[in-house]
Amino acid sequence: MTRLVAGNWKMNGSLAANRDLLDGLVSVPGVEMAVCVPYPYLAQARQRPDGIVLGAQDVSEYAAGAYTGEVSAAMLLEFGCRYVIVGHSERRALFGEGDVMVGRKALAALHAGLVPIVCVGETLAERDEARVMEVIDRQLGAVREVLGAAAMSGVVLAYEPVWAIGSGRSASVAQIAEVHGAIRAWLDGHGVSAGAVRILYGGSVKPDNALELFDVPHVDGGLIGGASLAAADFMAICRAAAGGV
Ligand code: PGA
Repeated sequence: MTRLVAGNWKMNGSLAANRDLLDGLVSVPGVEMAVCVPYPYLAQARQRPDGIVLGAQDVSEYAAGAYTGEVSAAMLLEFGCRYVIVGHSERRALFGEGDVMVGRKALAALHAGLVPIVCVGETLAERDEARVMEVIDRQLGAVREVLGAAAMSGVVLAYEPVWAIGSGRSASVAQIAEVHGAIRAWLDGHGVSAGAVRILYGGSVKPDNALELFDVPHVDGGLIGGASLAAADFMAICRAAAGGV
């Protein structure tokens, strides 16, 4: 399975800064590299080095119509997107997105021909209460309910413990191994063709921890926030995903 390393720029950038960042990227053989940019910069990011694919950070669950402020999956496709992140914890926590809405967004993406990167993960309180798999079961279950098991094999999943995002404190190798293995088993147990689903890890992936994180079983790539804003760091992480070459 080809690893995917996706940069999530979040609400960062400017025309000038994006140009420098994009110009600093070079595709790494054996790894699929994506940049998920803010909507207004999709047009700019169509001019990018060969081999870098384009994504967005959110999508509407609706196809078209009177939904002020929303952006449809078909629009993203028209601007060259292949991927769209759905259910990022920032959207869940700050913008009130629930599990079912996340499932509907994933469905809208698939319908239009995009690949949704569906984010799941627990808060620190939930981990402290030993509820990690209960939370992930609920989040994945809602997506399966909306998509159905067959279509769910067409998504990319990202395990992003909320407490590891932007905190400088990534999950440990043991924690990641446990949850990624459990997600793979969950897919198998719920009729989803698990071998086809890439499971990314996200949360404080940096050049200095990337090699050991990508070495964990069932880690099929990464979703990179802060470190995707510096071309050298993002490139180092992508090289680590290729096996450190
Ligand atoms: P981070 O963000 O790499 O800055 O922790 C990851 C994410 O939010 O996808």
